[in-house]
Amino acid sequence: MVRFLLFFMPFMLLANENIGEKIYMTKGCYGCHGTKGEGIGTYPKLAGKPATLLIERLNKLNKGIGQTSKRDLMIPFAKALNKKEIEEVSKYLSLININDKGEDIADEYLGGFGS
Ligand code: HEC
Repeated sequence: MVRFLLFFMPFMLLANENIGEKIYMTKGCYGCHGTKGEGIGTYPKLAGKPATLLIERLNKLNKGIGQTSKRDLMIPFAKALNKKEIEEVSKYLSLININDKGEDIADEYLGGFGS
């Protein structure tokens, strides 16, 4: 039984990550927070923040309680998530490596063709 669990644990974690990503990409979140949760302009960065913090913030926003004058933009999106979805999307965001950005690819490209 333990061996069974150890064997399937990585797949279970992966599956959870995908659920969170799916929520993030299908509920319009990336439109304001960026495709990697990096944040856009005044819309906060989410990637790499502790899941517990993100869950707490989303639960509050779900009840209509925000932090900034822009909260009214976010509240409807938080209200569209149920408790389980809030947990999954928060777990997904907390696991994103904030240093894993597109620039890495550009650097590689320049490295190969630079003068
Ligand atoms: C229209 C733009 C917009 C969209 C779309 C949007 N958000 Fe937000 N989000 C915001 C703004 C603005 C805030 C700051 C809210 C406040 O003042 O409390 C925020 C805050 C948050 C926070 C709290 C961050 C922190 O560090 O305090 C989380 C978590 C979050 N959003 C997740 C999501 C998720 C998940 C979705 C998709 C279901 C989503 N957002 C869609 C604009 C948006």
